[in-house]
Amino acid sequence: PTVTYVAHDGSETIVDGFAGDSVMETAVRNGVPGIVAECGGSLSCATCHVFVCADSAELFPPVAGLEDDMLDGTAVDREDNSRLSCQLKLTDDLDVQVTTPETQV
Ligand code: FES
Repeated sequence: PTVTYVAHDGSETIVDGFAGDSVMETAVRNGVPGIVAECGGSLSCATCHVFVCADSAELFPPVAGLEDDMLDGTAVDREDNSRLSCQLKLTDDLDVQVTTPETQV
């Protein structure tokens, strides 16, 4: 699967990911700016906030309890399409696009 990260300024970074990895892990491994992921994916930092593009939203299970709570503490206010990217697992053959917020802290 490929993941397209659109930065706040509109610049795009497209990387190949692996099924089973998260959108966050894929960003960190490839040095994609805009995702901090302080907690390393344990759902306790909210610095992996992304906005999932409409076409990609249905590829993931809906927001669940703790993620929903943590999304209330993001640096940039959440929107309807906000997710924590450590909770978004890639699957084979599904390409994903997300936008990263202006800041994570
Ligand atoms: Fe910390 Fe996602 S990496 S909540």
